[in-house]
Amino acid sequence: MGQSTRRGRGVGDGDDLAENLKGLERVDLLTEGMFRYTILPRGGWSRMSVQNRKVGHMGAIKLLGISGSPRKGATAYTVRQALDFAESLGDVETEFVSLRGKEIKFCLHCDYCVRKKEGCIQKDDVVELYPSMEAADAWLLGTPVYQGSVCAQLKALLDRCRAIVARNPGVLENKAGAALAVGGDRDGGQEPAIMQIHAFYLANKMVPVSGGPFGSNLGGCVWSRDRGAEGAAADEVGMRSVRRTVERLVAVARLLRGEGRP
Ligand SMILES: Cc1cc2nc3c(=O)[nH]c(=O)nc-3n(C[C@H](O)[C@H](O)[C@H](O)COP(=O)(O)O)c2cc1C
Repeated sequence: MGQSTRRGRGVGDGDDLAENLKGLERVDLLTEGMFRYTILPRGGWSRMSVQNRKVGHMGAIKLLGISGSPRKGATAYTVRQALDFAESLGDVETEFVSLRGKEIKFCLHCDYCVRKKEGCIQKDDVVELYPSMEAADAWLLGTPVYQGSVCAQLKALLDRCRAIVARNPGVLENKAGAALAVGGDRDGGQEPAIMQIHAFYLANKMVPVSGGPFGSNLGGCVWSRDRGAEGAAADEVGMRSVRRTVERLVAVARLLRGEGRP
């Protein structure tokens, strides 16, 4: 899990542990500190501040962060940093999912989901992600920039969401959604990639959110210089755009839940 303060007793790297637990039921692991981790068999983890459990009128905001990268690199790092920051705002529960190593089949446009309204005909790791996507109040989707666009892994996942919307047309309605994109170049297509994700949000009645003017106009734009997590961490301007985006994402998620301004 990157930083030692987040490791529970005997817990190594979250991704590796989750891989070993694939196929098992959820496993709750208490940390020594403030957080309770749940390692999810499908290869991610969720974390909740023990304090957060006690506060909040409607419970903590559930924020799902997805890294679309096939690597454990800059995008996964940035999404995790964003989730850390979200939790520091208080009353936020986060879940991190990496698409690295996941089987994500393409949508076949077979219309099984539309005819049957029973979900997707494809059986792979996406099916196990649907419950988290449905339960979250807010999504933060992170993509590496590939050819000026989102990566294919993330796009395939988004296409497969047609199945949950066909089963329940309001399932994503009024969830808040934000995006971050990590490119090897400073201006490598981060904003077009973010706009592609926003188009998904709009098409599915979600509410796209950015961090606002003067620095995070469309979302989190990070420049990794093709140097993985280290490169992303060094991009202070980019990481600030991520934090600003997350701050507003959480605020808007609260508004959409009818909780008013935090
Ligand atoms: C197929 C491919 C296409 C890429 N296209 C772009 C691009 O258009 N613009 C850009 O800035 N970086 C591009 N990159 C570089 C990645 O976006 C960059 O290294 C990013 O930080 C990778 O994220 P990761 O470390 O999370 O995998 C490309 C990389 C690959 C593998």
